[in-house]
Formats: sequence, structure tokens, C-alpha cells
Amino acid sequence: MKNIADLRKEYTKGALEPNLLGDTPLPVFSSWFSQALESEVLEVNAMILSSVNALGRPSSRVVLLKDITENGIIFYTNYQSRKGLELESNPFVSVVFYWAELERQVRMEGQVRKVSEADSDAYFYSRPRISQAGAVVSNQSRVIPDRQALDDKMDTLMTDTSIKIQRPNHWGGYEIVVDRVEFWQGRPGRVHDRALYEKEDGAWIKSRLSP
Ligand SMILES: Cc1cc2nc3c(=O)[nH]c(=O)nc-3n(C[C@H](O)[C@H](O)[C@H](O)COP(=O)(O)O)c2cc1C
Repeated sequence: MKNIADLRKEYTKGALEPNLLGDTPLPVFSSWFSQALESEVLEVNAMILSSVNALGRPSSRVVLLKDITENGIIFYTNYQSRKGLELESNPFVSVVFYWAELERQVRMEGQVRKVSEADSDAYFYSRPRISQAGAVVSNQSRVIPDRQALDDKMDTLMTDTSIKIQRPNHWGGYEIVVDRVEFWQGRPGRVHDRALYEKEDGAWIKSRLSP
């Protein structure tokens, strides 16, 4: 196996001039997201979400971005999962996207709030039946003895289509209301470009960070 310490890549695909970016971060994020989509980045909407439990211990996992709003971004999950319980006691989160194909990273921080029941319904019922069934059968993050019980419940819901699948009350969306967003563009020699937006007293302040 190649020595891991010898893995090396120069970043040459772009540059970032904070002064040329807009005054607020979410339109910039939308535009970067569109460019990532056009560049066929694999699982472009996959983001690493970190939460922190009541003892201050962080945990991270991948979730899927499902919308960009005026104030932040939305993802869907089980409110009783490990992350759901952590967010109940501590709403602060951080998120990171890494789009290797574009040599770009976006970091966001903020606080979550649950989206409306109507919005959770709208998204839940837009999903294919198999995904709706998956949300119903999974007590996400709980220990289970084996796979069989899940498969049996899935089989029932998938074969008997007369059963109307309802969105569980404990499944829905969170909006991350962002107050810190950083755009990173890889540059040669590790002298990368970083543009930071921080919300202070309701106004966005933009700055350039040293790599
Ligand atoms: C590509 C990818 C996408 C995922 N999308 C979601 C998602 O949108 N929502 C979700 O709850 N879990 C999603 N997961 C599963 C989570 O990473 C995680 O396993 C699950 O939410 C349980 O996390 P928790 O125990 O920390 O609550 C995804 C995993 C991967 C690898």
C-alpha cells in the first residue's frame, strides 16, 4: 500500500476573491451548489452534520440537503434519533460540504428549528413509497436484534399497498438557521482562499481568512 503520508494533490481549479462575492452567503451558496450540480459532483447534496450532546461531546454523520431557504438550509430525519435527541438539548450545529471535483469546501454553523408540520408532510409524501416505509419501520439509532424484523415490516408495507403510510410524528425536517458560513477554494501550495460571512446584530460581515 502507498504510504498515506505521501498522498499529495495540488489544488488548481479556481480562485476566490471575497470582494467579488455577494454581501450575504446564502445566494453565494446557491450559486456554488448549482455549479457543483453542473459539474456532476457525486452526491452533491450530502453534507456532514455535527451536533453536540448535553455533555458537550460532538458527533457527526452524513445527511442530505433538501432545500435552501432565505435563512439557511433544510434536512430531514427522525426527531428521536441520536442526532434528534442531541438537537433537542442543544440546537447548535455545524455542517460541511466537500466538493472534491471543484476543490471546494463550504462550512456552515447555526441553530436548528423544526420546519412546519405542513412542510414535513409535503416532503414526506413526495418521497417514493419505499422511502416512506423506511421512515416508518426504523426507530433510527436504536439497538435492534437483527435485520429480520425490519425486512418483515418493509415487506408488509410494500406488498399491501392498501395500507396508507402516514408520516410518523417523530419524522420531519430541521431548518439550520445559519449565522456563520465559510467558502473555501483550494489553491496551489496550500495557500487556499477562504471567505467568511458572520452574522452580527442581524447584519452579515464578510472577511478573508488566512488559509
Ligand atoms: C449519503 C448519506 C445520506 C444520508 N442521508 C440522511 C438523511 O438525509 N437523514 C438521515 O436521518 N440520515 C441520513 N443518513 C444516515 C446518517 O448518516 C446516520 O446514519 C443516521 O441519520 C443516524 O444518525 P444518528 O444516530 O447520529 O442520529 C445518510 C447517510 C449517508 C451515507
